[in-house]
Amino acid sequence: MKKKQLQTVMLSVGLGLAQIFSVASMAAESTIEEAADKSLEHSIAQRQHAFGQIERGVKQAGKELKNKQVHWESLEQVSLELHESSTSLLPLFPEGSQDGSKAKESVWQDKAKFDRLLHEMDKGFEQLYRAATNKDNTSALQGLKQAQSTCKSCHRQYRSRW
Ligand code: HEC
Repeated sequence: MKKKQLQTVMLSVGLGLAQIFSVASMAAESTIEEAADKSLEHSIAQRQHAFGQIERGVKQAGKELKNKQVHWESLEQVSLELHESSTSLLPLFPEGSQDGSKAKESVWQDKAKFDRLLHEMDKGFEQLYRAATNKDNTSALQGLKQAQSTCKSCHRQYRSRW
């Protein structure tokens, strides 16, 4: 093969390889993007589920505390689940997970402030749990009330209505 011919062959092999690499890396990129989208969707679904659990748990705990004879073991169980659901929320608001959810942009404008409110809710559930293990009605009600006071104030600032 003449030198010129060889150069042409090498060049076209080189271009071919470059093309293969760029197609492969584009495919890899879109797979990474898809995976990232899926993970954001997953976080949204998980936090909405956790909030649903919290809503049900709070109702159940309130009903339990109205009973003349509080069933402390059930209350302990419910409040433990409330505590678990509320702590599970902390990592479920990653950057970029607003679209397709009802969270407002403001969540990420001051994430530390938002997280403080989540902690506040959890402190109420912790108090409720401790009170349930101590069979302390007054403290249990206090804890539940504290947690409930955070729902509205957080939703007003951070949850969109539509
Ligand atoms: C720190 C802020 C914050 C606190 C505290 C909070 N929420 Fe929310 N809540 C949100 C946000 C933000 C959403 C929207 C989530 C989304 O769509 O991704 C939401 C959504 C919900 C939903 C709808 C879930 C769904 O299926 O779409 C329910 C129910 C709910 N919250 C109940 C409660 C209750 C009950 C409390 C108090 C015990 C509470 N939340 C406390 C921020 C909060």
